[in-house]
Amino acid sequence: MTDTVKLNAADKDLDLKVLHGSVGPDVIDIRKLYAQTGMFTYDPGFTSTASCDSAITYIDGDEGVLLHRGYPIGQLAEQSSFMEVCHLLLNGELPTKDELDKFTYTISRHTMLHEQLATFYRGFRRDAHPMAIMCGVVGALSAFYQDSADITDPQQRMIASHRLIAKMPTIAAMAYKYSIGQPFMHPKNELSYTGNFLRMTFGVPAEEYVVDPVIEKAMDRIFILHADHEQNASTSTVRLAGSSGANPFACIAAGIACLWGPAHGGANEAALNMLREIGTVDRIPEYIARAKDKNDPFRLMGFGHRVYKNYDPRATVMQQTVREVFAAMKVSDPVFDVALKLEEMALSDPYFIEKKLFPNVDFYSGVILSAIGFPTTMFTALFALARTVGWVAQWNEMIADPEQKIGRPRQLYTGPTQRDYVALDARS
Ligand code: ACO
Repeated sequence: MTDTVKLNAADKDLDLKVLHGSVGPDVIDIRKLYAQTGMFTYDPGFTSTASCDSAITYIDGDEGVLLHRGYPIGQLAEQSSFMEVCHLLLNGELPTKDELDKFTYTISRHTMLHEQLATFYRGFRRDAHPMAIMCGVVGALSAFYQDSADITDPQQRMIASHRLIAKMPTIAAMAYKYSIGQPFMHPKNELSYTGNFLRMTFGVPAEEYVVDPVIEKAMDRIFILHADHEQNASTSTVRLAGSSGANPFACIAAGIACLWGPAHGGANEAALNMLREIGTVDRIPEYIARAKDKNDPFRLMGFGHRVYKNYDPRATVMQQTVREVFAAMKVSDPVFDVALKLEEMALSDPYFIEKKLFPNVDFYSGVILSAIGFPTTMFTALFALARTVGWVAQWNEMIADPEQKIGRPRQLYTGPTQRDYVALDARS
């Protein structure tokens, strides 16, 4: 095991410390590099940079492994529940039966929104994207919960975390209800976390909503698959925003904004739109050719990943879940056939093989969410709902770290060097 690496920079021989995690690549500690050499490292996009240490989630992208607190995602998706996974991510361990009951009870007691927030929704256009509403409403929560605003107090941090996990289904469901002009449904705490969300989304006050256990199970699994994913763009956004000591609700709103982009959480919406546009299996070669064409900006949405250079283990579970839900609901969707064939053809194409481009979690999630009845615009909102636990777990971990500093990257400056101001009438 190497403990130092040698670097010759600015005519100096440096011994840089190598840090070892419990598993995964070692990292070179360059924290004193600038002080010792006057040089920065350059890594836009963070392709070779560990931004923090973390004990929450581990990914081996080459092997297609994803572990939460050491537990493989496949086992959690098969055997666990979203509430258990939330407890695991937040507290580090799977809960005992008593702990799970207590945690579930606590979350269920925070599901309601301040009534004033319902008024807040009415300021949005009816055709607003749910992610626009989520950004606004979650950011606005910071104005409502002053009693959990002291981030130096671990208990207040945990209350803010519970509130966020609990209120996201209510917020997302209300965003949907607002877009279709139906009345908001209040939470019903005798239901499960997922059942409650389904009722708030698809129920109406005029009728009793009966939660379908198959859909409830599938939805719960989808939440588990999205719960956390190490230092991805939105999580890093939450950490960076939080590093200044900002209010947790505002930090999560920043994470939602980042997740919205089509290169990140917005890909599930884009993937289903793409599959629908392809429409039939015979048109797949045309789209594969476009994805390979350097002069065409088109990419296969739901394909490729910064970290996975193998099959995304979440996509494996997602594909299986589509099959189970279709079988249980006795439905099918030609779009699933297009997805399966597209995957098969892409995975046997040298372009995708050489670049190690595999389906990611977003490739199949849209197919199943659509079958459940969600419009495409809600897909990323569901992702945000489920990822909230990951965001708050990572935010808590960062704030609790005594060595935590404000995140402040540097740059390679390429603009003009110093020059003198020119008066307006003297400019040509
Ligand atoms: N279709 C076609 N070509 C692709 C695709 C794709 N989906 N993804 C990557 N490539 C190609 C690139 O053109 C590039 O080729 P080049 O080396 O010849 O220039 C090469 O593969 C590497 O791609 P990069 O964009 O450099 O890889 P990066 O790690 O920066 O991007 C990303 C990863 C953003 C996920 C990318 O694969 C992509 O845009 N995929 C489609 C969007 C998507 O599905 N996003 C969801 C990610 S998962 C999540 O956020 C939950």
